[in-house]
Amino acid sequence: MLPSVALLSLLAAAPFTVVATPTTPTTPPKDVNPFLGKNYYANSHYSKELDQTKVAFLKKGDLLNAARVTTVQRTGTFVWVSNVAGLSGIDTAIAEARAELRRTRKQQIVQLVLYDLPDRDCSAGDSAGEFSSANGGLQRYKTEFVDKFAKAVSSAPDLTFAIVLEPDSLGNVITNQGIPFCATATPIYEEGIAYAISKLQFPNVSLYIDAAHGGWLGWADNLPLAAAEFSKVLKLAQTFKKGATIRGFATDVSNFNPYIANPRANYTEWSPSYDEKNYALSLAPFLQNASVPHHFIIDVGRSGLQNQREEWGDWCNVKAGYGERPTTDTGTDIVDSLVWVKPAGESDGACGPLIDGEGAPGAGQWWDKYAQQAVKFANPPLAPTWW
Ligand SMILES: *[C@@H]1O[C@H](CO)[C@@H](O)[C@H](O)[C@H]1NC(C)=O
Ligand SMILES: *[C@@H]1O[C@H](CO)[C@@H](O)[C@H](O)[C@H]1NC(C)=O
Ligand SMILES: *[C@@H]1O[C@H](CO)[C@@H](O)[C@H](O)[C@H]1NC(C)=O
Repeated sequence: MLPSVALLSLLAAAPFTVVATPTTPTTPPKDVNPFLGKNYYANSHYSKELDQTKVAFLKKGDLLNAARVTTVQRTGTFVWVSNVAGLSGIDTAIAEARAELRRTRKQQIVQLVLYDLPDRDCSAGDSAGEFSSANGGLQRYKTEFVDKFAKAVSSAPDLTFAIVLEPDSLGNVITNQGIPFCATATPIYEEGIAYAISKLQFPNVSLYIDAAHGGWLGWADNLPLAAAEFSKVLKLAQTFKKGATIRGFATDVSNFNPYIANPRANYTEWSPSYDEKNYALSLAPFLQNASVPHHFIIDVGRSGLQNQREEWGDWCNVKAGYGERPTTDTGTDIVDSLVWVKPAGESDGACGPLIDGEGAPGAGQWWDKYAQQAVKFANPPLAPTWW
């Protein structure tokens, strides 16, 4: 407590400062962007993969791009937890983020993707997972994956977490009912995600349901369908746990859309969601009317090179560079942060354009030429880190 003379001189020096009295209740403000003031913790898993990229540049004598790789290695990206075996990645992330917290005294945000639904990737199949609903997969998802995920995260109240829930799944529910496997997976996806929401209700954990991207759910006809589906899943979560909520939605995960198109691509001509900022702005009023929280994070990890696609539907290893660095400086209150979710260099599948005559490996496998390309075509260009 300041002596009153010091307090008075403080007030005199800063007449517009509101000084809280000791009796002011200290209830935390409800609508806080969890990324504000936090360091985006950079995980060692991605950093190790990128060691190869650095070596490849060094072998070519390309010191500038090698130094740019170091910058990427120090940029906070999401840790994908895509199967039960991957749950240990949460403990690693917690230990590393705590070490960073001790070293720098700066609050850390740990970014995780929860991605292991039964019958996963029902439309494309490239990223099929370990659980099948025909085989008791929903129950196993709950007890072997979600419960353990929640336990790990709840062990670190000294950290803040941003968690993306199940990329692509509700997008498939909303638009791919014509695919029988997606139709049968629908109630499984809904219950699985609702269960995950209900189990991850902790004060320092912000949940973002995946909302696909502007070229998928951003069409005028799809926006109300998307809001209705998200509302349905959130209401189901609230039947599992009263008051369960989310922070909002993640968009463009593993896709290539720009945050701000310049110029907008011709294939977006009839869409209000011609870039991800406009997708968020287009979807938000529908969510608001359905009483669903409408904050967003947007994956720009591979959005640095625009207008490389023939069609908006091209999703596989499209020629790309790293996009804007993760930031809360988004130009709109509804977007909490631009983030890097998909680690550029991890393949989308054995498809897409060749690089120097080389084809992509299977989904999730490291494709170093792709990472090198992302470094070279980053926009804005990556600053080199020389030490
Ligand atoms: C966790 O949440 C509580 C309650 O909202 C807050 O007071 C505290 O500062 C948060 N801790 C971190 C590490 O963000
Ligand atoms: C859109 O199409 C026009 C006419 O074909 C072309 O000149 C322009 O470059 C295209 N824009 C983009 C962003 O590709
Ligand atoms: C939201 O609700 C208001 C009031 O009913 C209505 O005027 C508006 O058109 C709705 N917006 C959307 C996007 O549904």
